[in-house]
Amino acid sequence: MTTAAVEEQELDPSLPGGVNLISAVLAMEPSDLVISHARACGGGSITESVQKFIRDHCLSTPGEFYAPYLKNFLKKLISEVELDHGYVLDYLYELYAQYMASFKDDSFGRRDTRVCKRISFLFPNGCSELPSRPYSKVLMFPLQCSLNMLEGDTGCSIWPSSLFLSELILSYPELFYNKSCFEIGSGVGLVGLCLAYVKASKVILSDGDLSTLANMKLNLELNNLKVETNMTQRSEDPSMVKCMHLPWESASESQLQDIVPDVVLGADVIYDPVCLPHLVQVLTILLNRTKSDSYSLLPNPKPENEDACDESVGRCDADYNGGANGKSKEAPVAYIAYLGSIRTKMVGSEIVEVIHSWSAPRSLSTSIMYSFAQRDDIEVLDEPLYANFLRVTGLDRPYRKELLSKMECDGNKVVSDIIFGPGRMKYRFCKHIAKQRTQGLTNDLMKKGKHFILIRNPLDILPSFDKVVAPSFFELGLAELVCIYNELRKLGKVPPVIDAAELQQDPEATLRGLCDDLEIPFQPTMLNWEAGPKAIDGLWAPWWYESIHKSTCFKQEKKYPQSFPFALYDLLEQSLPLYNMLRRHVKKKSSSLLSPPLPLPELPVPANEKVLVWVGDEIVPRDSAKVSVFDSVVQGGDSIWEGLRVYNGKIFKLEEHLDRMFDSAKALAFESVPTREEIKDAIFRTLIRNGMFDNSHIRLSLTRGKKVTSGMSPAFNLYGCTLIVLAEWKPPVYDNTRGIVLVTATTRRNSPNSLDSKIHHNNLLNNILAKIEGNNAKADDAVMLDKDGYVSETNATNIFIVKKGHVLTPHADYCLAGITRATVMDLVVKEDLILEERRISLSEVHTADEVWTSGTMGELSPVVKVDGRRIGDGEVGPLTKRLQVAYKNLTQQSGVPIPTYLAN
Ligand SMILES: Cc1ncc(COP(=O)(O)O)c(C=O)c1O
Repeated sequence: MTTAAVEEQELDPSLPGGVNLISAVLAMEPSDLVISHARACGGGSITESVQKFIRDHCLSTPGEFYAPYLKNFLKKLISEVELDHGYVLDYLYELYAQYMASFKDDSFGRRDTRVCKRISFLFPNGCSELPSRPYSKVLMFPLQCSLNMLEGDTGCSIWPSSLFLSELILSYPELFYNKSCFEIGSGVGLVGLCLAYVKASKVILSDGDLSTLANMKLNLELNNLKVETNMTQRSEDPSMVKCMHLPWESASESQLQDIVPDVVLGADVIYDPVCLPHLVQVLTILLNRTKSDSYSLLPNPKPENEDACDESVGRCDADYNGGANGKSKEAPVAYIAYLGSIRTKMVGSEIVEVIHSWSAPRSLSTSIMYSFAQRDDIEVLDEPLYANFLRVTGLDRPYRKELLSKMECDGNKVVSDIIFGPGRMKYRFCKHIAKQRTQGLTNDLMKKGKHFILIRNPLDILPSFDKVVAPSFFELGLAELVCIYNELRKLGKVPPVIDAAELQQDPEATLRGLCDDLEIPFQPTMLNWEAGPKAIDGLWAPWWYESIHKSTCFKQEKKYPQSFPFALYDLLEQSLPLYNMLRRHVKKKSSSLLSPPLPLPELPVPANEKVLVWVGDEIVPRDSAKVSVFDSVVQGGDSIWEGLRVYNGKIFKLEEHLDRMFDSAKALAFESVPTREEIKDAIFRTLIRNGMFDNSHIRLSLTRGKKVTSGMSPAFNLYGCTLIVLAEWKPPVYDNTRGIVLVTATTRRNSPNSLDSKIHHNNLLNNILAKIEGNNAKADDAVMLDKDGYVSETNATNIFIVKKGHVLTPHADYCLAGITRATVMDLVVKEDLILEERRISLSEVHTADEVWTSGTMGELSPVVKVDGRRIGDGEVGPLTKRLQVAYKNLTQQSGVPIPTYLAN
């Protein structure tokens, strides 16, 4: 299936992919996660229809979103599509621009900011028998949350473990239905909402922080539940949820005496070891209680109605039945959700978010570490995997022994205990050198935390590289850096890539952009640091950090670079393509502080973004399809070309085009020309590699080849010709249904006196000057006259006119002897029409009954206006239509088959 076919499919908001995407946006999930849902919807890429879906279903209520979240999300979304070289909807650009203009970075991440997330639970088919909601498969709760977890003063954000517990409740409603449920540490109240939803007979939520409690009550009300704070009062109202203030450290037996739950719940209540003893005490009191105990503790235990059971609302006052006669001894059950992976990060009572920086050596990685170390919310680690790297590789360094004795050498221990170990800061910055990611390290290293990639041109790295180690491809480690980029991409965590040169040129804009991408607030302190050695330096600092210790900021690059150490020329040649590959992923400079780059242009046919091209003797991707600066085509436009079309598995008029190409090569005295079979083979291979068997155009070029030195003389061409087969998806380029408009150019077509137009050469400036005149006049093309003022052709096509039933075309004296021209002339004869090949003056064109142009690229294009004169009645004429049909038929029937096509 082609991309276009995928694009056309409308996404269904009720199918799982669409529901997941909508839910992720409503819950304000991290952008990366939302993007991976979006990719899943588009079969791997964020297609136009996925973008439309996001516009229509996810962003339709933008007023209710937390703007900075949306701003970040849009930015990520747009850059992902751009990275894929896809088409971004104007709407998304406009919305992003709106947010850019209205919200400055600083507003994001203020710790006390509260946002409204909408948490959705999706029910699979067959769940409609769940209490209520028989028709909808989505249950959604709007919740006010703080942006940060564990900030008691504003109410917790959503915990993964509370989501987990909520899912348990909704998946096994029978465990909670008609039960009296008590939650310890209720946070935003999500678990309570689920309990009320499955009709627990009583829901009591508790939290030790008063403002969290207030936030929780607000959430309950937001979801149409009533809040009751008097614990002793019994309420019959099914939508009533009780909320109580319960700090564990001061909780006493008497305070809990009225709480007689069937079920005790807690979402990851054991996050902080300091709280553990108090929590155990609270749990002990609650879990040791039986209903008969509680009965005796109640001040007025007699129920108003012993058999009261209201089936219609699913509540049943059974609590006291057993207690009244003292028979029930059921102890409560506790469900505590505990997510181990969170636990490991939270020892020390803070979640540490790890930021991994990956680079080659000498790439300003220490500067950026110093920069991050200036923040008030971060701790930094200087190459924590260095000792492991030396141990595994056995490589020598002047400080090897000391390093191995002082640093942890077990890489996996480093990852689990140091990189992801406990800490008291919000973030931890880890500077990594790419090659230090040795085999056998746990996948957690890549899977967890946020990553970015810092690159630097090897031209700048290599001159200072050999100070401590002998430079090698391995020591440079750019291959590993590319692997890291690709792996992260595969994990759905596309890392931001920044270039050291940009960091030097405009540190603030680059750091702001990076912080934005990492979704952390920028801090201006990152721009400067003190000179001299630092406590955070690795013990290798005296060998490597001498010059950085003199710095206090990202210094402007020197205006003129150092000479390149030519002993490292081969290494440069090997590593430069890897650097360039990563450089393509450097985000567009987004800040106004940097001069804006040209926007990535849209391709007329987006599928051509990924074509394979034959250059010389190999097939390469589009961006690698280059000729040498020593090539004759660069040195003097010294090259010939053909345009061919592929129809229905066949190449139309292949032999005729090759005949003309060999004639042109001979006329220009090319030497070491590939054989006809070699050229055909290259064409076939290129088409097959691209899967192009229809609707494609081939631009076939043959240059005189590379020269041994710059210059004009073909005597320098000692490498043989360079063959280029550029095949693209290309529908006919003119409007052949409604017709085109021409103007006459002042530029005259080459005369054989100067350059014979029968040679199909690449030196197209004569035609390009005419085309510029056409563009300026907003015409589709320009008519070119010969030296005597007669019509020769257009800048790109041959020309035909019809007068009184006669078909006329100029002699091929000053125009290219087009293959299509010859084909049309044959068809004219076959259609029993009168054909005249003669000089045609411009006034004959202006007064013609019909005019059309011919060429491989555009086929037969009707001309409806020339120099402001309407041709005929301004409509496509009958002979034009007749010949268009005859031509179309011929293209479908004839041509040279592409080998494997029929076999398929
Ligand atoms: C100036 C000019 N005229 C006419 C043509 C049409 O030639 P053909 O029919 O061989 O594609 C071309 C295309 O190469 C051209 O460049």
